[in-house]
Amino acid sequence: MSHAEDHEGTRRDFLYYATAGAGAVTAGAAVWPLVHQMNPSADVRALASIRVDVSDVEPGTQLTVKWLGKPVFVRRRTEEEISAAREVDLSELPDQGAENNNLSADADASDENRALDETGEWLVMVGVCTHLGCVPLGDAGDFGGWFCPCHGSHYDTSGRIRKGPAPTNLLVPVAEFVDETTIKLG
Ligand code: FES
Repeated sequence: MSHAEDHEGTRRDFLYYATAGAGAVTAGAAVWPLVHQMNPSADVRALASIRVDVSDVEPGTQLTVKWLGKPVFVRRRTEEEISAAREVDLSELPDQGAENNNLSADADASDENRALDETGEWLVMVGVCTHLGCVPLGDAGDFGGWFCPCHGSHYDTSGRIRKGPAPTNLLVPVAEFVDETTIKLG
């Protein structure tokens, strides 16, 4: 084999591996680019606070909105979801902290602390898996809440991690009702 042919072969190999690499990147696209939060652009900063109309959200469904570059789940829970979340003994939880920006750091992870309203009908959380940043699926997993398929993290109906590699509960952002059908984030 001449030197020129050898070089050609090497180049083809390189192209092959480069293409295989691009495929791997596509497969990983479900990973939320957390790094983008580090340096928000001006248009993102301008939306630090948004209002979400929840009048069309039926019980047992959720609305996903984009806020500060991240998905936020606004879930209207059924009675069953609320009681499942409230019956849990906190000692069973891997993460017993509130992970709630509305509360002090020493608040616990009771569902009463995580839900937006007293009845527990509304739960608002940042939809980013606390393991490596994938977006968990709703109505899924062993605990009837959310499931992150990337590495198998199961969250309960209060968004608390119950099984799998995620270290902490889904984050509850600063949020409040500003009228009967509008939730303000931020
Ligand atoms: S990113 Fe969710 S389990 Fe790893």
